[in-house]
Amino acid sequence: MKIGKKTYLTFVILITIVFVLSVIFMGCMKKEDTEKPGTEKEQKQEEKVYVGSEKCYGCHKDIKEQMAENAHGKAFKPLESYNVELDKNIKVYQEVEGGEPKSFDLSQVKVAGVMSDHYVIGSIDNKYFRVAAVESENGKWKLEPAAAADVNKDGTEDWVIKDYTCGNCHSPGLALNLENQENVDPGFSCETCHGPGSVHVTTRAKEAIESGVESCVNCHTSSEPTEKGDILIAQNHYGTRNWFDANHNSGKAEDCLNCHTAHKVNAEGHLIKEASAQELCSSCHGQGVNVKEIMWVNPTDERNHFTKDHSFGKYPYDSYDDDPNTPAVEIRNPETIKEMKSKMKK
Ligand code: HEC
Ligand code: HEC
Ligand code: HEC
Ligand code: HEC
Ligand code: HEC
Ligand code: HEC
Repeated sequence: MKIGKKTYLTFVILITIVFVLSVIFMGCMKKEDTEKPGTEKEQKQEEKVYVGSEKCYGCHKDIKEQMAENAHGKAFKPLESYNVELDKNIKVYQEVEGGEPKSFDLSQVKVAGVMSDHYVIGSIDNKYFRVAAVESENGKWKLEPAAAADVNKDGTEDWVIKDYTCGNCHSPGLALNLENQENVDPGFSCETCHGPGSVHVTTRAKEAIESGVESCVNCHTSSEPTEKGDILIAQNHYGTRNWFDANHNSGKAEDCLNCHTAHKVNAEGHLIKEASAQELCSSCHGQGVNVKEIMWVNPTDERNHFTKDHSFGKYPYDSYDDDPNTPAVEIRNPETIKEMKSKMKK
């Protein structure tokens, strides 16, 4: 068979092009392979920004409705929900360690919202404070001081404002301190647990959004007690107490979701998988366990700071030897202390 000069030349050129292209292609592949793991992923994550829950509702409307019913959705509300007004004439004081107290009047406050149906959070000179509180009296809300003390030493109690160190957990949107805050709810939003959603809202890809299962323990730390001399003091705020030594704890963040729901409340208004706590336990254990006895509450915790015991039977209240007349829960029983310390990681 005779091959023309022209055909031969075209053939050679074609082969050369294919060769050069594959070298470039392989080169790119190789570059990707040798790149530090995660680099590209991290770059993509950096591009993600917070867009606000409104952007999620179009596609996830059912979850919007569920959030409105749960404790997270209700944790931080606008002041308007309480039908009280800040009396702009009220003078408030900020105690300054080792110095004269500063005074302001409430007209200087820019209100951000109300946390846990109690503290009014607002900013003065771009710094957030608990500036006042709301209290319910005979079904009507009224304004109260956030704290009271005779700061100016005139024999009467003054309104004292307190630093707002609670935001990371109680108003996670506000705590982000974004420049473009208007779109992002100051309280809990979808992005509190799922991370910034800008990429996901356009691509809809599930890889572009966090699943949320890692989020719970950021705020509900699986806390251990702290040492105070010879005794231990049980975590009295936010920690999922004694979870560190629970049989249900396999060491994964998603363990919480064996019992808890992420968005939807049960018939009693709690983030629990079954209609009641008892039904939840019975779904795996039959009728054998009594949840009220096992998950005890701190008898002196008026404001519900103290999460029910999550050791699931390892540390009953009686095993503590607590003094019920003190607000803190002390662990005095030497046997319990020994047992706990052997399991503590701190
Ligand atoms: C344009 C429609 C659309 C918008 C807007 C949208 N999503 Fe989605 N979302 C989807 C779809 C579709 C899926 C299912 C993806 C799949 O299974 O591959 C999904 C899945 C998810 C998942 C599950 C991810 C997983 O790991 O399984 C989460 C969480 C989520 N979305 C959160 C959000 C949040 C938060 C926002 C707002 C910032 C949002 N979505 C906005 C369409 C949307
Ligand atoms: C308190 C943290 C938290 C908040 C706030 C939250 N989520 Fe979730 N979300 C989760 C967790 C955890 C899961 C995984 C649930 C599971 O695996 O059982 C999840 C799952 C999802 C899923 C996929 C599975 C499903 O249930 O449909 C979507 C979609 C979703 N969330 C969207 C949203 C949207 C939209 C909002 C705001 C309206 C929101 N989430 C607010 C924690 C949260
Ligand atoms: C940003 C911090 C934060 C994250 C993340 C968070 N929580 Fe919460 N959670 C809170 C705060 C604060 C409260 C109390 C709100 C109040 O009462 O004002 C609360 C209340 C609760 C309650 C009590 C309400 C009830 O059902 O009776 C449960 C249960 C709960 N969270 C479970 C979870 C689970 C499960 C997750 C993960 C899917 C989670 N939380 C993620 C801060 C957080
Ligand atoms: C074996 C089931 C189970 C597991 C696992 C579990 N919880 Fe709970 N949790 C409960 C029950 C039951 C309640 C009480 C609910 C009620 O009274 O309706 C509760 C209550 C709570 C409360 C509300 C506070 C209170 O005193 O009612 C928070 C917050 C909470 N759990 C967080 C968590 C977190 C975070 C994890 C994971 C680290 C977790 N839980 C793991 C069953 C569980
Ligand atoms: C999803 C299934 C499931 C649910 C729901 C559940 N448990 Fe368990 N529970 C287990 C398993 C599995 C073990 C054994 C873990 C081990 O020993 O490794 C266990 C262990 C226990 C133990 C330790 C003693 C024993 O029998 O091993 C107690 C006490 C307990 N659970 C109480 C509860 C209570 C109270 C509830 C309700 C709040 C509850 N459980 C909900 C699965 C469950
Ligand atoms: C590390 C996260 C975190 C920080 C910081 C934090 N809290 Fe909390 N707080 C929680 C969680 C989680 C709960 C819910 C506990 C539960 O329901 O078991 C809670 C519950 C409360 C409650 C009871 C809510 C109710 O519905 O009655 C009050 C009041 C409260 N916190 C006040 C504060 C104040 C005031 C600060 C700041 C000085 C603060 N918290 C800082 C996580 C936190």
